[in-house]
Amino acid sequence: MKKVLVTGGAGFIASHIVDFLIMRGYDAIIIDNLSTGKEKYLNKKAKFYRADITNLDEIKEIFIQEKPEIVIHAAAQVMLRKSIDDPIYDAKTNILGTINVLECCRNGVKKIIYTSTGGARYGEPEYLPVDEKHKLNPLAPYGISKHTAEHYVYAYSKLYGLDYLIFCFGNVYGPRDDPNCKRVSSLFSYQIVKNQDPVIFGDGNQTRDFIYVLDLAEFIVNSIEKNPENKLFNLANGEQISVNDIFNLLKEISGFSGVAKHIPAIPGEIRDICLDTSLAKKDLGWKAKTDFKSGLCETFNWIKENYSE
Ligand SMILES: NC(=O)c1ccc[n+]([C@@H]2O[C@H](COP(=O)([O-])OP(=O)(O)OC[C@H]3O[C@@H](n4cnc5c(N)ncnc54)[C@H](O)[C@@H]3O)[C@@H](O)[C@H]2O)c1
Repeated sequence: MKKVLVTGGAGFIASHIVDFLIMRGYDAIIIDNLSTGKEKYLNKKAKFYRADITNLDEIKEIFIQEKPEIVIHAAAQVMLRKSIDDPIYDAKTNILGTINVLECCRNGVKKIIYTSTGGARYGEPEYLPVDEKHKLNPLAPYGISKHTAEHYVYAYSKLYGLDYLIFCFGNVYGPRDDPNCKRVSSLFSYQIVKNQDPVIFGDGNQTRDFIYVLDLAEFIVNSIEKNPENKLFNLANGEQISVNDIFNLLKEISGFSGVAKHIPAIPGEIRDICLDTSLAKKDLGWKAKTDFKSGLCETFNWIKENYSE
C-alpha cells in the first residue's frame, strides 16, 4: 500500500486524515512539532517524527529515510488573530515551512495535497458564493501566507513535475477542535460547558461556511486515488451560517439559558463568506455528509466529554 507522509498529523484536521488513511490500509508517517497538535491524537499505527517543518535538514532526513509517495501538508500556524500579532512567525511556518516540505518532495514524492484556506484567502467577497476565480485580497497575514504557499506548490509542479491538489477549506469544525484555538463552534461549546457567557465579536450576524472535519478528512483520503488534473478546489458546505445561528443552535442542543456578550468586531476578519464548491463536486464528487446541526451536536458532546472537569 502507498506510503503517505502527513505534516501536522497530530493536529485537529490531519489527525482525522491519518485515522482514515490507516483505516484504508495506507502506511502513514507523521511529522509534527506538537506546537498545537497533541500526542493523544497520534494514531498508534502511524510512525511519528517530532520535527519542525522550518528545519529543512531535520525533515529532509525523514523524507530520505521514509521515501513517501504522497504528502499531505497540513502543518501550519493556523490562528488568524495570532498571524496579526506575529506575522513573521506566521510567514516562517506557513511560507518557509511549505518551501521546505516542497524541497523534500523533490526526492521522489509523486503528489502533494496542500491544505489552504477558503475563508481567509479571498478577503471581503465581491460576490457570493465565492468561486476559485474570485480575486484575492486577503485581509490578514494568515490568508496571505497560506495563499503565497499555493504559488510555490504550483511552481514546484511546473519545475519538477510534482502533482498536486490544493484544497481551500471553509471553517472546519468537529471533535478535536481545541477551544484554545478560539474557533467559534468549539469555543462557544466550551464556554457553555463551563457555564460562561459566550463572547461574540460584533453583532454576530457575520456568516461563515462550515465543513465537518470527518467529512473533510474522509474526502481528502478518497481523493488520493482519484487522479484528477492538478487543480485548486474550494471545499465547504456552501451554506452561510451566522455566529448568532451557532449560539442559538448550541442553546437548543445544550439547554443553556445564558446571554452572549458582544464586544467590538476584530479588524482583519471578513464579514461574510460562502464558498462555491461546484468544481469539487464536478471533478471529485464532493458531497457533505453531515448537516450543520448534527455536526455541532457532535462537537458539543465532544467538548463536554473532554472539558467538563
Ligand atoms: N481549522 C480550520 O478551520 C482550517 C480552515 C482552512 C484551512 N485550514 C488548514 O488546515 C491545516 C490544519 O489545520 P488545523 O485546524 O488542524 O490546525 P492545528 O493547529 O490543529 O494543526 C496544525 C498542526 O501543525 C503542527 N505544526 C505547526 N507548526 C509546525 C511546524 N513548524 N512544524 C511541524 N508541525 C507544526 C501543529 O502542532 C499541529 O499539530 C492547516 O494547514 C490550516 O491552515 C484549517
